[in-house]
Amino acid sequence: MLKILHAIISSLFIVIGLATPPPGHAPPLLGLVLTPGGQQDSANVHIVPDRARITRVVSEIHVFHENGTLFKTVPVTNAGPPSNVTRRVAPAASGWITYAYWYKTTGDPIAWFETDFVVPPAPASCTGQTVFLFPGIEPASGTSIVQPVLQYGPSSIGGGNFWVIACWYVVGTQYFATKLSQVPVGLALRGLIDLEYVATPTDWSYWVGMYVAGGDIGMRIDSPEELVWATLTLEAYNIVGPQSYPAGPTTFSDVLIRVGDWEWDDPGSSWSVVNDATEGITTNVVVNSMSDGVVVIDY
Ligand SMILES: *[C@@H]1O[C@H](CO)[C@@H](O)[C@H](O)[C@H]1NC(C)=O
Ligand SMILES: *[C@@H]1O[C@H](CO)[C@@H](O)[C@H](O)[C@H]1NC(C)=O
Repeated sequence: MLKILHAIISSLFIVIGLATPPPGHAPPLLGLVLTPGGQQDSANVHIVPDRARITRVVSEIHVFHENGTLFKTVPVTNAGPPSNVTRRVAPAASGWITYAYWYKTTGDPIAWFETDFVVPPAPASCTGQTVFLFPGIEPASGTSIVQPVLQYGPSSIGGGNFWVIACWYVVGTQYFATKLSQVPVGLALRGLIDLEYVATPTDWSYWVGMYVAGGDIGMRIDSPEELVWATLTLEAYNIVGPQSYPAGPTTFSDVLIRVGDWEWDDPGSSWSVVNDATEGITTNVVVNSMSDGVVVIDY
């Protein structure tokens, strides 16, 4: 997810690769856990209370309960230099298999980004895979992402051979997630990221939520940067073949983006697609609209 991480993580894997595991055992992961940003140090994954507020305060990130009481303080880790957003994501390295995106280059901020989707049928076989499906949004620097995520398979916050949802905020090498909740196949989901207010040019307050019958989840993010790069993404790990993916297409429908401060407008733009040719999995923009777009991932 964050390109700068891949170099760090690749080097970790090289170190880990030197240890020869006993026959029949996976190599030890030395505290690494899977996240929607690949394998990460488990010490950098933080489960936050539902409806928490996460705020950058100089060199720390403060996590507050909804009632304003401090929950946790985490040091800001060096996220490295900004990367070039147009080639920021390398699917083979990051786990991003295919995605649609819209990058807001000028004008009013993205005020609202939402989409509906439905929990797909489980994959035909359980191969130890982890699949993440999400709308997400990043700043131009590519150093963070805000995302309501549907997950199949295990990750650092739990999960298994069933679907779960959680909201994530990744900043630098720190990973914040709400507690996961299990969702049944066929359940309607609505993922939303909206800009609540802009306090200063370096204080952008967003809400990220996943809306489901029987229990919405979400959190507030005070981002030092405007979020400009919206994507609809399939990310996956430990895939052995088509049977590792959901059985049947995934449709993001009623995809809506609004820009503006007080008045909201349709940005009047269109979605672009990035596919990883080697995977044979494609994103297809069926209705190319910022008001009621339809984007389908075919496996
Ligand atoms: C705020 O909420 C947390 C979690 O429920 C609780 O532990 C704390 O005591 C609350 N603080 C106040 C001031 O109510
Ligand atoms: C970003 O990458 C694109 C495509 O490779 C290139 O055309 C553009 O000049 C780059 N921009 C910056 C700021 O490096």
